[in-house]
Amino acid sequence: MHSFKQTRRDFLTHAGAAGTLLCAPALASVSSAFASNPVVLEARTGTARLLEAPGKPTSIWGYGGSVPGPVLRVKQGDEIWLRLKNSLTQPTTIHWHGIRIDNAMDGVAGLTQQPVPPGETFDYKFKVPDAGTFWYHPHNRSWEQMARGLYGALIVEEPEAPDVDQDIVAIADDWRLDKDGAIHEKSFDSLFDRSHAGRLGNVLSVNGKPKEEFPVRSGQRIRLRLINTCNSRILKLRFEDLNPLVIALDGQPVAPHALKHGTLDIAPAQRTDLLIDMTGAPGTTQAITEVSQGRVEIAMFVYNQLTPVPLRTSQFRLQENSLRQPVIASARKVDLIMTGGAMGRVDKITYRGKRYDITQLVREHGQMWAFNGNAGMPEEPLFSARPGESIAVRMVNDTRWPHAMHFHGHHFREAHGGAPWRDTLLVDTGETRTVYLVADNPGKWMIHCHMLEHQAGGMASWFEVKG
Ligand code: C2O
Ligand code: CU
Repeated sequence: MHSFKQTRRDFLTHAGAAGTLLCAPALASVSSAFASNPVVLEARTGTARLLEAPGKPTSIWGYGGSVPGPVLRVKQGDEIWLRLKNSLTQPTTIHWHGIRIDNAMDGVAGLTQQPVPPGETFDYKFKVPDAGTFWYHPHNRSWEQMARGLYGALIVEEPEAPDVDQDIVAIADDWRLDKDGAIHEKSFDSLFDRSHAGRLGNVLSVNGKPKEEFPVRSGQRIRLRLINTCNSRILKLRFEDLNPLVIALDGQPVAPHALKHGTLDIAPAQRTDLLIDMTGAPGTTQAITEVSQGRVEIAMFVYNQLTPVPLRTSQFRLQENSLRQPVIASARKVDLIMTGGAMGRVDKITYRGKRYDITQLVREHGQMWAFNGNAGMPEEPLFSARPGESIAVRMVNDTRWPHAMHFHGHHFREAHGGAPWRDTLLVDTGETRTVYLVADNPGKWMIHCHMLEHQAGGMASWFEVKG
């Protein structure tokens, strides 16, 4: 049994151990590393132990050859400089999910940059305006590249460190593996997955491991930064008899509150920061379980033998980032009507300017979802905003499936009191949700479903903010 008092610094060297230890220890460090030289993120092949022994290792694609890629920790307001080196056999890019970034650095192949060919590099240099939990992943054939393991955490630290004993990153993913532990490649373009719930895996991992362990001491207060990097699974997490408080969603602080019915639902691409007081006894364990399909223990808190430290009684609250408040009353209204998919209403869908019956569109182009009757990236933006204009997007889910709707370059909120800022909102089947944002970041920004097969099957559009 180790008996160490884990300090924040210890933790940094542990965090995302798969990433940091296997590729480049320097990468996990903070800002100063970025100042005058780029930090290189090499997208390449590697292996991961996703199955418990005696299961075979899995060939993956990862940043630095590991999954997840290195945890990038920077300070709010920093300018960071990262060099993508593409050692894959496919073109790729990196998108910095949730960062209110310079448009040219947003990493969307075909909209904000050309995809980076194999063997080439691309420099991303940008400021991080908001503190919080963010992540990075490719934005080219993302349904395949992310299913193969290309993703990592981007943590932007508050200027003053909040009062916790540990700051832990937990990236949860599901994988579709065959009996030999190999990634199931034949189904990458499966029309069934595209038209139904997306690619759901049969193996879950946290930080690239079948059952991640978090060493803790009884009485500690921890911040757990959960990131769902599944292609399409909505994770449902339980925490045994712990009582986590939600303190941030998609990187943005919220008034601390308990989980509804003790379960945390977290849709693809969403993040939830939890504050947990570790109330278990020394020498015991507590599991995090995933219950969307059966019950799987995906991670363990492992208490050391040290005598408990006293539980904190202080209130905890993160400082909000400064986002501009949309003006609800005068916001310009934009409709985004989702149709198509399996068991959806059959109507005509436009694709690249041509009208199709859905069956013909599936057969010829593998497309079956639409926003406002259009599949795939349209020529014309969903809306074009004056800088600083408040926009209300009414999202109507007229399909038989939930969708994780993501807007680039901006965070949005619903109108009711206390509605959180988000960058990805789960819109359930039959639901209508209206979100408000201030279009204050110039450029061309994607809106899409983050269930990556739905995106591939047509759920993609964009909006423009004039410079
Ligand atoms: Cu996580 Cu279009 O992005
Ligand atoms: Cu969707």
